[in-house]
Amino acid sequence: MVSPVIENEIVKAVVVSDVSSQRTDGLIGTTLMRSLGIVMATVVLIVLLLLNHFRFVQYAMLFRRMKEVDQLKNDFLSVATHELRAPMTVIKGSIENLEDGITGTVDEKGRHVLKVIYGETERLNNLVTDLLNVSRLEQGRITYTFETVDLRETSQNIVDEFTAKAQQKGLTITYQQPPTPELISADKGRIIEVLTNLVDNAVKYSQKGSVIVTHKSTANQVVLSVRDTGIGMAAPDRERLFSRFYRIQNDDTKGIPGTGLGLWIIKQYIEAMRGTISVDSMVGVGTEFEVQFPRLKPGPEKP
Ligand SMILES: Nc1ncnc2c1ncn2[C@@H]1O[C@H](COP(=O)(O)OP(=O)(O)O)[C@@H](O)[C@H]1O
Ligand SMILES: [Mg+2]
Repeated sequence: MVSPVIENEIVKAVVVSDVSSQRTDGLIGTTLMRSLGIVMATVVLIVLLLLNHFRFVQYAMLFRRMKEVDQLKNDFLSVATHELRAPMTVIKGSIENLEDGITGTVDEKGRHVLKVIYGETERLNNLVTDLLNVSRLEQGRITYTFETVDLRETSQNIVDEFTAKAQQKGLTITYQQPPTPELISADKGRIIEVLTNLVDNAVKYSQKGSVIVTHKSTANQVVLSVRDTGIGMAAPDRERLFSRFYRIQNDDTKGIPGTGLGLWIIKQYIEAMRGTISVDSMVGVGTEFEVQFPRLKPGPEKP
């Protein structure tokens, strides 16, 4: 651009100026590009955050649904098992009545059939009881009444209960009673269930030899032991032994009925009573289950 400098109508000078907005335009352009980049990045970030948010919402909904289904399953289990137990008690009672000759004499063949029905009803009853206990444990509905338990009396009773069953299989079952009382603080009913399960397994999974129940005390613990000379189990099986529904599947266990719930159930009981359970076993030689409880020191003698 050319601008004359005029003084007294005489052009004194000419100012030539060259003004350009090129740099400003460049700066504005770069700033715009950067702003656009930031806006784009923000939009992408927001979209990602939203996607993530929806995923979390979906997870939360899924979790809620799973909890509902779990609750439904537990409710169903408790109702179904309760309802199933009542008719089974009636069936067993009726079989006993028939065996007692209430409807007339039952011949040998009839007795055999009744025995089969009774056995199968008992099997069903055990399954239902196991399921009921699992459902109660899962819902935290098991209560423990702690009292001083002398393991000698409990162990003897259970061994007596299983003697006939063991003898039928040609097994000997013994309780090696220690000379002094072994006191623990526990729920007596649950201790009976623990011992019953272990002795039942020892008899069930042994084809020959003996089952020995005993206990000993160390300075701080009472150790309850159930030992058998049965089929035993390999190390990898032992690791999963206390999982729910786990049963060892091989030629030795084929045909032996069970639910695979007993050991899981008693482990929960034992741990709730501040105890631990461990197993030692060798295939073809036998198995020993040990249950450790804190030892209850006898209180001072009252004068
Ligand atoms: N004394 C034992 N000797 C050999 N195997 C055993 C013994 N006790 C338990 N087991 C194995 O552990 C599995 C789980 O036992 P458990 O939970 O009591 O279920 P169940 O007896 O109903 O099958 C059994 O199926 C069996 O394979
Ligand atoms: Mg069992």
